[in-house]
Amino acid sequence: MRIANIHVVVTGGASGLGLATVERLHRSGATVTIFDLPGSAGAEVVERLGERVRFAAVDITDEQQVATAFEDAAAASPLRGLVHCAGRGKPMRILDRDGNAAAMGDFAGVVELNVMGTFNVLRFAAQHMAKNEPLDGDRGVVVLTASVAAYEGQIGQINYAASKAAIVGMTLPAARDLAKVGIRVCTIAPGTFATPLLLNAGRPDIVDALAASIPHPSRLGDPDEFASLAEHIISNGMLNGETIRIDGAIRMAPR
Ligand SMILES: NC(=O)c1ccc[n+]([C@@H]2O[C@H](COP(=O)([O-])OP(=O)(O)OC[C@H]3O[C@@H](n4cnc5c(N)ncnc54)[C@H](O)[C@@H]3O)[C@@H](O)[C@H]2O)c1
Repeated sequence: MRIANIHVVVTGGASGLGLATVERLHRSGATVTIFDLPGSAGAEVVERLGERVRFAAVDITDEQQVATAFEDAAAASPLRGLVHCAGRGKPMRILDRDGNAAAMGDFAGVVELNVMGTFNVLRFAAQHMAKNEPLDGDRGVVVLTASVAAYEGQIGQINYAASKAAIVGMTLPAARDLAKVGIRVCTIAPGTFATPLLLNAGRPDIVDALAASIPHPSRLGDPDEFASLAEHIISNGMLNGETIRIDGAIRMAPR
């Protein structure tokens, strides 16, 4: 599907990979609606980019907020794309230092955001896209965000790895399910990208070591490289039902 003049919702669009996607799609002539938390920089992004960008303050885990935000977005102009970037992890171990079992909340919270949140935005995006007339063969395109942790979860990532593996697992059945209404679904599994999520998470020397461990190129990914792949997935009509790693050939070590 061509990018110019289409309307795309980008969740988590106020920061990191989502923000880079907003900027790239906007440069390519799309209208973009950012779904992000009320306390995010969404309004500032709108002010900076100007016309063709809107911000909806939405918690993607909230059923009513997401339903209303999609209703409003689709009423403004037909919704053709969803790039779903909102998500995060929270380090946890199965046993704490004293050998006690982990709190369920640390597991459930990440699953709630990354798995339930993904399904929540997927279902409402599909509902609105299914009403479109086909454009370049598609009624809509959905791009989800997993992580290489879906395949090589590290110690401390049991909740995050399980949640991202669930997104990889959703991709093919979602594409098969929505094929009858002409909606494509792909997932991007990023390696290590220079975003606030990663840069604020660890000591600079640990981040440097992580970058050095990437075979080639030995650097963190540029968020615009993620955005470029998201844009390509929207524009390439044959991509469907697939998870694409973008990671400089990194395979994460146990820790
Ligand atoms: N940065 C990396 O190296 C990397 C690697 C693999 C996967 N990822 C995944 O990419 C996605 C984006 O990560 P990022 O690095 O850009 O992070 P980021 O923290 O820079 O941006 C995430 C955005 O999501 C928003 N968000 C969080 N919870 C939300 C909610 N409940 N409702 C609405 N918005 C919410 C945040 O406000 C923020 O603006 C995440 O799913 C993350 O797991 C990132």
